[in-house]
Amino acid sequence: MGGTMPPERLPLVAGNWKMNFDHLEATYFIQKLAWTLRDSHFDSHRCEISIMPSFTSLRSVQVLVEADHLPLSYGAQSVSVTTQGAFTGDVSADMLARLGCEYVIVGHSERRKYHPEDDANIVDQVRAVLAAGMHPILCVGESFEERRQGIALDFAVGQVTDVTRDLSDEQTSNILIAYEPVWAIGTGMVATPESAQEAAGAMRENIRSAFDDSVSAAVRILYGGSVTSRNAAQLIEQPDIDGFLVGGASLDVDEFASIARITEKFVRRLGRH
Ligand code: PGA
Repeated sequence: MGGTMPPERLPLVAGNWKMNFDHLEATYFIQKLAWTLRDSHFDSHRCEISIMPSFTSLRSVQVLVEADHLPLSYGAQSVSVTTQGAFTGDVSADMLARLGCEYVIVGHSERRKYHPEDDANIVDQVRAVLAAGMHPILCVGESFEERRQGIALDFAVGQVTDVTRDLSDEQTSNILIAYEPVWAIGTGMVATPESAQEAAGAMRENIRSAFDDSVSAAVRILYGGSVTSRNAAQLIEQPDIDGFLVGGASLDVDEFASIARITEKFVRRLGRH
């Protein structure tokens, strides 16, 4: 698909802070980000900015965003598949929704690697997030091994199919996909704009064949993996890439704000929104 991004696909630049920043550092970061964006007349109607801090910072971020009406959304990095009960250390989707979370990252490759998060668990997380009225950001992407075997595209598209297979049109249109080749995460090796587009386009096409056309037109597909202000412009120009999931570069206010500004400028140039 591609070509014209419908108005409902507002680009999203999301910062995945991973296990960085305590709540005081988070507060300082959010305040500085808000000043930086205000100084550059950033237009949040053209590009949404979202921050995914650790659980311990969510309440501080919520208070700041609500008190100062900041043009930012925020979310969590994972969620429990159960609603409540004897699950020591877990956090439910309802708890996150009550904190004003808009998004929850689901199935990040680091979670898949360090925690027992298999496909079934990831489907359950997606359902839990949707049931609580939030949007899952479903992370998929091939490792170096699948790339070496030449099955990268089938692998990443297959991961999307595995999760969306039993979901309704409405549920699927509320999901965001982050195409994050595992070999590109935190390595400084970014996918080429062409290969990122090829994967995003194949994912959208796959959704189009399984769901209503309006679903594939609405689903936002982000690219993630060593995104910086140096490579963001070429990536955002790709018709099926609707923004970024940024790890390392989201820990530096100026760098993160630049990636958001590059995305916003691109939308402005196209006259979208
Ligand atoms: P990176 O991480 O930008 O540091 O490569 C991206 C991610 O893990 O979401």
